Amino acid sequence: MNRRVLSGIRATGRLHLGNYLGAVKGMLALQADPNYETFYMVADLHTITTPYDPKILKENVREVILDYLAAGLDPQKSVIFIQSQVPQHTELGYLFSTLVTVARMQHLPTFKEKVKQHPENVTMALLNYPVLMAADILMYKASLVPVGIDQEPHLEIAREIASKINSRFGLAFPEPQRFATSGEYVPSLTGEGKMSKSVEGSNIGLSDDLAAIREKLAKVPTDSGSGNQVPTEGGVATLLTLVELFEGKEKTEQYRKQYQTEGIKYQDLKNELAEAIYQELKPIQERRLEFENKPEMVDKIIEEGNEKARQEAQKTLSEVKQAMGLI
Ligand code: ADP
Ligand code: TRP
Repeated sequence: MNRRVLSGIRATGRLHLGNYLGAVKGMLALQADPNYETFYMVADLHTITTPYDPKILKENVREVILDYLAAGLDPQKSVIFIQSQVPQHTELGYLFSTLVTVARMQHLPTFKEKVKQHPENVTMALLNYPVLMAADILMYKASLVPVGIDQEPHLEIAREIASKINSRFGLAFPEPQRFATSGEYVPSLTGEGKMSKSVEGSNIGLSDDLAAIREKLAKVPTDSGSGNQVPTEGGVATLLTLVELFEGKEKTEQYRKQYQTEGIKYQDLKNELAEAIYQELKPIQERRLEFENKPEMVDKIIEEGNEKARQEAQKTLSEVKQAMGLI
């Protein structure tokens, strides 16, 4: 039997390089491997666990679908769908919530982080976030999940739930592992923390043109350009990580040596890096435009994906309900 893969991204707007390198590139790699059956969704139910605007939620879901297709997710090879259109996810999430304690959820670093960000919005759904995510993954019996490193605590919960439900109810769910890419942690352009949608000035968008990329890189804080120790944090470290991801290890090594000898000219480094990033994004942007111009085709891809996902989901849900004594 083929091994299964599931991943998802919340619908909070267009994707950035962190999403692309940490999640989407892994999704593409597994889609290309005939040993895997791949399921990729937009996690709109997870989107509403933090403050959001209901008027633009559907638009944002569409943006993620368009970015998926533009990046190369292929409906011939992957099931592409929208989480809320497969109601089995919520039902399985509820069943799983009977297996997890409140204390375990409250202690997760990802939960604590969100409480800090939105202290006025500590809802039941937020607490239950990892349980619903476990339902997303286990629904398709996925053993691999391409996501960035920040999602590891959530995968741990999915493994705990799998192990509990297997031992308690005699089922055989796999314990899912994260599928890591070389860009599993893309640092912020500000030099502090990770590249993220919510932090202004931290990211480069998949839809940014060359001028925008140049402008953003120009703002990355740097230093004098030379010294004994190549910085391992801050703006310079971010630039070197991006050089490695877009121009290769050798190029990074060259810059490291340069730092310790004649010095780096950041203007040149930034110009070259902007070009390299744009070269990778250009075909994605061209494909996005093609899909934007064929809305009916995109509707059809989503409808077919939703239907396939619902069929698979129902099988697992029935199995679990039976094992738990409900049917
Ligand atoms: P954001 O933090 O920008 O809101 P999400 O939380 O929606 O991004 O993350 C969507 C996916 O992209 C997840 O798999 C996450 O691990 C990955 N991801 C987000 N930011 C980064 C980053 N800076 N580096 C690597 N992966 C990332
Ligand atoms: N929590 C993920 C994020 O913030 C989104 C997500 C929801 C997800 N369900 C998932 C990722 C299932 C992988 C598998 O990016």
